Amino acid sequence: YEDPPKICCLGAGYVGGPTMTVMAKKCPEIKVTVCDLNERRIAAWNSSALPIYEPGLQEVVEEARGRNLFFSTDIESAIRECTIIFVSVPTPTKKSGIGAGEAADLTYWELAARQIAAVCNASENKMPKIIVEKSTVPVKTADAMAAVMAAACKGTDFQVLSNPEFLAEGTAIDDLFKPDRVLVGGPQTPQGLAAIECLANVYRKWVPTERVLTTNLWSAELSKLTANAFLAQRISSINSISALCEVTGADVSEVGHAIGVDSRIGPKFFKASVGFGGSCFQKDILNLVYLCRSFGLPEVAEYWHQVIVMNDWQKRRFANAMVATMFNTVSGKRIAILGFAFKKDTGDTRESPAIDVCKALSEERAKLAIYDPKVSREQYYEDLGKEAMEKIEIDEDPYVACAGAHAIAVITEWDVFKTLDYQKIFNSMSKPAFIFDGRNILDHRKLSEIGFTVWAVGKCMKKVLDTEGSPSP
Ligand code: NAD
Ligand code: UDX
Repeated sequence: YEDPPKICCLGAGYVGGPTMTVMAKKCPEIKVTVCDLNERRIAAWNSSALPIYEPGLQEVVEEARGRNLFFSTDIESAIRECTIIFVSVPTPTKKSGIGAGEAADLTYWELAARQIAAVCNASENKMPKIIVEKSTVPVKTADAMAAVMAAACKGTDFQVLSNPEFLAEGTAIDDLFKPDRVLVGGPQTPQGLAAIECLANVYRKWVPTERVLTTNLWSAELSKLTANAFLAQRISSINSISALCEVTGADVSEVGHAIGVDSRIGPKFFKASVGFGGSCFQKDILNLVYLCRSFGLPEVAEYWHQVIVMNDWQKRRFANAMVATMFNTVSGKRIAILGFAFKKDTGDTRESPAIDVCKALSEERAKLAIYDPKVSREQYYEDLGKEAMEKIEIDEDPYVACAGAHAIAVITEWDVFKTLDYQKIFNSMSKPAFIFDGRNILDHRKLSEIGFTVWAVGKCMKKVLDTEGSPSP
C-alpha cells in the first residue's frame, strides 16, 4: 500500500467528522478528506459554525483544516485518490419491510458501497483500496460490501475491514485522543492481514500498540454490537434497581457505589436516569436481537430485548411519577423541562428520553417550557412535531422557563443545572413547587429546605426528608 496512505471518509456526521479530524491532527503527513452528500453539512464543516457541538472539536478542526484535513462534497475524487476509504454513514433501524423496527437499514451503506465500486471501476488508476466499515453494522455486512465490490468493480484489488468506533458523544475528542482500544478486524488471508497492518499503523501513530487490537472480521463487527449491549444493560440494570430503591428506602447512588467498588463489577455506567438515549444503544441492541432471531437463537434475542423493555418502562415511569406526585393531574400546569439533549455536552437529541417525557406530559395537557443550552429551535420541531410545538415554549434562559411553573423536571445532566439559584427559582414558581430530578445531580436536601417537594430517581423521598432535611410544606 501507498505510504503514507491517503484517507477519505464517506459521511461527515458525529462519527466521521470527529474521527477524521483527530486522525488528521495526529498524522500531519496524511491527507484526510471527509465527504458528505449533504452540502449544508460540508459548508458548515468549512465554516466557523461547525455542524455538531463537541467539546474541544473546534480547536482541533481549526488546527488541521486546510493543512491536511479537507471537507468536501466531491466524493468521486476522494474515492479515486485514496487508499483507505472509511464508510461512516447512518445505519438506522428499518422502519418498514422485513425486520421493521429491529433490523438495521443498510440502504445508505449499500449506496456507499455501490458508489465506491462504480468509481473504482471507471478509474484508470487501479491502485489497491482498503474499505473500512466505521458505521455500526450487523455481523456479516463486510461480506455484502465485498460482494458488491467484486461484482461491480473489475481490476481493483480491495479489502474490506471492520473498524468500529467506540467514541461517546460529549467526550468524543478525549475518547479519540486516548481510546481504551482501537479494533481492526479483517480477513485472515495474507492480503487481509496486510490491509489490517496498514490501517493499524495509522492508529499506532498515537495509540499505544497494545491498545490496537486486531481480530477477524466477524469478531470486530460483533464486538461493537456487544459492547453497546453490555453498556446499555448496565444502565437498564441500575434503573430497574432504582424502582426498587424508591419503594424500599434504599438509595440507588449508595447501592451503585457499593456494588461498583467490586473490581469485578467496576464503577462506571451505573448512574440511574430517566432512561438511556442516543442514536446507538437502542438501535444496536435491536440489531443484535434481530440477528439472534435470524440465526435461530430466540432465547438470546429475548435476553437482550429485555434491556430495551426496561428502558422504555423507565421513561414511562418517570412521566407517570410526575403526574402521580402532582395530585394525578398536570392538565394546564406549566412544567419546566431542564435539558432536552440525550446527555450533557451535546446538542444531539436522537432518542433522547426528553422526547418521550415531553410527549407523555403534552398528552396529559401540561404546558411545557423547555430549556437546553445546545439544542437548536428546529430540532424541537423535528422531535416533537409542529402541532405539539404550538403549545410548547422554548426558552433561552432556565429562570424564564421555571418562572410560574408548578414543576421542574431535570432530564439532562448539564452541569449548569447544579448551580442555578434554586431559592430564586422557588420564589418565582407556583406552590406547591415540585422538582423531579431524573439524573440525581441536584442537592435534594437543600431543595427540600428551600421548600420544594422533591422526587428523585432511585431515592425514597420520604427517607430523604426524614433523615436529611426538613419536610416540605
Ligand atoms: P450521522 O447521521 O451524524 O452522519 C452520517 C452522515 O453520512 C450524514 O451526514 C449523511 O449525509 C452522510 N451520508 C449518507 N450517505 C452517504 C454517502 N453515500 N456518501 C457520503 N455521505 C453520506 O451519523 P453518525 O452518528 O455519525 O453515525 C454514523 C455511523 O456510526 C452509524 O452506523 C452509527 O451507528 C455509528 N456510530 C455512531 C456513534 C455516535 O456516537 N453517534 C458512535 C459509534 C458508532
Ligand atoms: C454510546 C457508547 O458509550 C459509545 O461507546 C458508542 O460508540 C456510541 O454509543 P453515546 O450514546 O454517545 O455513546 O453516550 P453514552 O455516554 O454511552 O450515553 C448513552 C445514554 O446513556 C445517555 O442518554 C446517557 O445519559 C445514558 N447513561 C449513561 C445513563 O443513563 N447512565 C449512565 O450511567 C451512563
